[in-house]
Amino acid sequence: MKVEIATLFPDFFSGPLQSSILRRAQQQQLLQVNLHNIRDYTHDKHRTADDRPFGGGPGMLLKPEPVFECVEALQPEPGTPVILASPRAPLFTQRDAIELSAYNRLIFVCGHYEGIDERVQQHLCTHVYSIGSYVLTGGELATLVMLDATVRMIPGVVGKADSVSQDSFMDGLLDCPHYTRPAEYRGWPVPDVLLGGHHAEIERWRHQQKLRATRQWRPDLWQNYPVSPQDEQLLEEE
Ligand SMILES: C[S@@+](CC[C@H](N)C(=O)[O-])C[C@H]1O[C@@H](n2cnc3c(N)ncnc32)[C@H](O)[C@@H]1O
Repeated sequence: MKVEIATLFPDFFSGPLQSSILRRAQQQQLLQVNLHNIRDYTHDKHRTADDRPFGGGPGMLLKPEPVFECVEALQPEPGTPVILASPRAPLFTQRDAIELSAYNRLIFVCGHYEGIDERVQQHLCTHVYSIGSYVLTGGELATLVMLDATVRMIPGVVGKADSVSQDSFMDGLLDCPHYTRPAEYRGWPVPDVLLGGHHAEIERWRHQQKLRATRQWRPDLWQNYPVSPQDEQLLEEE
């Protein structure tokens, strides 16, 4: 997958792109990331990328011209997602990560300042996502979050396909708790069922934990989860 990122802060990406999964995906040639400085598409001697909002109000806005010119210079093929990070948008979910992972090329646009001229969202971008109900300083962190979640879904990037398919959200539930050695640490034991080697019992316990966690912490997921009679039974147990 080829990923183009339009940003005012290309340096922001150097650490994350050189670490862990994102680094490995590039080494495996499953991912290529190109950073594009929006400021390179300004035309005045001060390289001005921002301006005051029409109608007044605090702060500055990212101007439309350098953003349009930057993305257009990348010559997106028809159908290539051009993705804007914005808090004023639907929430980015695992389903979106799976969907985006199927494309050969993605273009991300990072906003900054008080935001970005609305015409960028209306006439340039094909997708707009928020990564959560809080305001970040710029779209760079949001883009990295979406990129990481998407790249994990490209077959071959995460070593064991199972570890991805059993993650939170993949089956509509949060993940279960996990433990490793030692079996007892500071007097806190690992649940007996995990030590017994009885696979059906372990699976049953894990599913019960997933149901409980999702019901407790994520009512938004829980209301869409098709609870079966067996699930009901598991939930009634102590
Ligand atoms: C300071 S924010 C602008 C906030 C905007 N005035 C608002 O209240 O909706 C600057 C940029 O950060 C990015 N950003 C901030 N919070 C975000 C979030 N929760 N999800 C995605 N992008 C976000 C967007 O690209 C946005 O244009």
